[in-house]
Amino acid sequence: MAGASLAAQAQQPVAIGVIGLGLRSSAHLDAFRKLAEAKVAALSDVDSARMAKVNEGLPSKAATYTDYRELIRDKNVGVVVIVTPPYLHHEMTMEALRAGKDVLVEKPMASTYAQAAEIQREARRSGRIVAVGMQRRYSRNDAEYQQVIDSGQIGPIRLITYHEFRGDWNPRTALYTDPATGKTASWRFSKKAAGSSELEFSVHAFAMVTNMVKAPLARLAASGGVVHYTGRDTRDVSTIIADFSSGARLDYSFSCFAPGGGSACIVLGDKGVLRREQGKLIIFGDGKPRAAEIDAGRLPAEDPEVLMYREFFRNVRERRPSPLGPDAAIEASKIAYAAEISISENRIVTAKDFA
Ligand SMILES: NC(=O)c1ccc[n+]([C@@H]2O[C@H](COP(=O)([O-])OP(=O)(O)OC[C@H]3O[C@@H](n4cnc5c(N)ncnc54)[C@H](O)[C@@H]3O)[C@@H](O)[C@H]2O)c1
Repeated sequence: MAGASLAAQAQQPVAIGVIGLGLRSSAHLDAFRKLAEAKVAALSDVDSARMAKVNEGLPSKAATYTDYRELIRDKNVGVVVIVTPPYLHHEMTMEALRAGKDVLVEKPMASTYAQAAEIQREARRSGRIVAVGMQRRYSRNDAEYQQVIDSGQIGPIRLITYHEFRGDWNPRTALYTDPATGKTASWRFSKKAAGSSELEFSVHAFAMVTNMVKAPLARLAASGGVVHYTGRDTRDVSTIIADFSSGARLDYSFSCFAPGGGSACIVLGDKGVLRREQGKLIIFGDGKPRAAEIDAGRLPAEDPEVLMYREFFRNVRERRPSPLGPDAAIEASKIAYAAEISISENRIVTAKDFA
């Protein structure tokens, strides 16, 4: 009986309302197509033509709202998925939680530490399930690193050196008008709208780092600026040095004017150095370099977004906190919040800044 009722429960559709139907929303909608329990019940975007087009592509028509508050109030919606520019994440998440909805909000969770902490408190108070769309946890790359670190093959982590050098942001994103200056540009060019480049982009790498290190940030210093482009205030280059309370260190660099610059993550442990060479994770140490031992059976076998939603829907059904919940998201975001403070206030940031 118990087994049968659990199976029936597992097939209960999850009624989803999606707010924000720009570039990133297609990855969410693709995942829903692959998950039998996902039912898109409502859509919201300020661009009604875009919304109508998305609705046409759904297997059954959803309610549409240009005012996202109406989607949040819709009684047919149980889970609110927020895929709007970052400056809207805090208010939309807070309203959805207060209306009794579970929420999956795209990264970054919120533009400031204070806003992220408020979401964390509201999620705890309301008992709603919150996840932040840091799907790389379910990617093969990150899962392989995590397995090797957790297995102790390179011993305790002493230093992570990580760089991500990419080209410029996609120019087709929604526009943001700064109410103070009236200036209109892609939201990714504005700190008010994006938070910072590190918060918007590097937070995926920071989540990987904090998952590997498993210790809070102790202190951080950063340098960066807008050196290549004009007419924007989100940095195009930065470098960060961070210490964690475990004694692990991070040395991270970012740039968005170096298409093809690539990315690399090298982890130094007491027993070896882990890095990816020609697609494979290799450990360098005494003797010959050797392939890291990886249990292929425990690696992700589906798209990260599909796996993210499988786990999120299970968390919603079972009322269990998500591994992508506010605690994990805040720990990763702290590196970006601290970098912003360090650069703008020209100082070292410590754990006290987040007390
Ligand atoms: N997890 C990832 O790998 C990943 C990748 C890309 C983007 N993202 C995140 O996804 C989010 C959206 O990014 P994007 O590239 O899709 O941006 P986008 O500009 O392409 O899309 C944003 C959409 O939100 C809509 N919107 C703006 N204000 C709104 C409002 N008040 N109500 C309803 N809709 C509104 C816009 O009209 C637009 O359709 C950002 O937080 C970004 O950081 C995550």
